[in-house]
Amino acid sequence: MTSAAIRLEQVTKTFDGRVVAVDAVTLDIAAGEFFSLLGPSGCGKTTSLRMIAGFEHPDSGRVHVGGRDITDLPVHRRDMGMVFQSYALFPHRTVAENVAFGLRMREVPKPEIGRRVQAALAQVALTGLEDRKPSQLSGGQQQRVALARALVVEPPVLLCDEPLGALDRKLRQQMQFELKELQKRLGVTLVFVTHDQEEALAMSDRIAVMNKGRVEQVGSPTEIYERPRTRFVADFIGEINILEEAGVSRALRPEKIRLMSVDGARLVGKVETANYLGGSTLLRIRAGDGRSLLVRETHAGERASRAPGDPVGLGWNDQDTVLLEG
Ligand SMILES: Nc1ncnc2c1ncn2[C@@H]1O[C@H](COP(=O)(O)OP(=O)(O)O)[C@@H](O)[C@H]1O
Ligand SMILES: [Mg+2]
Repeated sequence: MTSAAIRLEQVTKTFDGRVVAVDAVTLDIAAGEFFSLLGPSGCGKTTSLRMIAGFEHPDSGRVHVGGRDITDLPVHRRDMGMVFQSYALFPHRTVAENVAFGLRMREVPKPEIGRRVQAALAQVALTGLEDRKPSQLSGGQQQRVALARALVVEPPVLLCDEPLGALDRKLRQQMQFELKELQKRLGVTLVFVTHDQEEALAMSDRIAVMNKGRVEQVGSPTEIYERPRTRFVADFIGEINILEEAGVSRALRPEKIRLMSVDGARLVGKVETANYLGGSTLLRIRAGDGRSLLVRETHAGERASRAPGDPVGLGWNDQDTVLLEG
């Protein structure tokens, strides 16, 4: 399979003349990359994806795929697969007919359709279910049919809008692994929309964090997590402490803080709450000066070393704090 690079150049989209859904977004997505658009509901993820697909035309700015300006190209002439949260399968058609759809539209000869449908179903581990209707499948299986239907035409670009959003947690994690593995095996460029930061961290080569139609930061999962540039990114991705001193804000992750005895501690306080999370416990500490801090204690044993009401000292290294803009 081939893959293609995608470039959004100063792309803007306004609805009803007032809602700026996407605001001068510039993004470079490499061929074969697993790239996520991450942000809260309404930040412009779907609109960005729909402009890549051609369902929306930008008010200004250009969209390039494979080095070619496709801004004015209609949807059906763009070579892209799409998968949605709702699956959007044809309910009265069988699995095989659903998957064959794109090939029939392209007037691929019948025997070849049969071969390629089989191959696509094998890729998503659905061999043997060709004759079922969507209603006779589980949610995870329906999602795999939607994936096979998108991939069967071997598009260089696959666009996924919250594709795992309707699945329960366990199945969702399994599908995350499968989708990531499939994407790497096929080498397809995948643009993945999600509001779930854990999902984006687990799956992506790179992530664009969006806020109010703008891109706040682009980076690898570790860059986004370890080196957030803005307060918004720091806040949106995982738990965070914001330390304000002399007019500057610094972010400090809960796992970077050490619990210690009160003597010689950088900050002294009391445990307010202790949330047991399995392998770790998230402690909320009320410091003597009134500040509230989150501390993650990883434990190999059964429980955290401190309980609510316990006095505690906190320590951390300056190099583990991250200076935030604005
Ligand atoms: N067809 C539309 N008409 C009017 N407003 C829209 C339309 N589509 C999206 N919007 C608005 O644009 C903003 C971004 O929406 P969207 O791209 O769907 O965000 P996300 O996918 O991140 O939740 C929201 O304020 C949304 O209400
Ligand atoms: Mg959306």
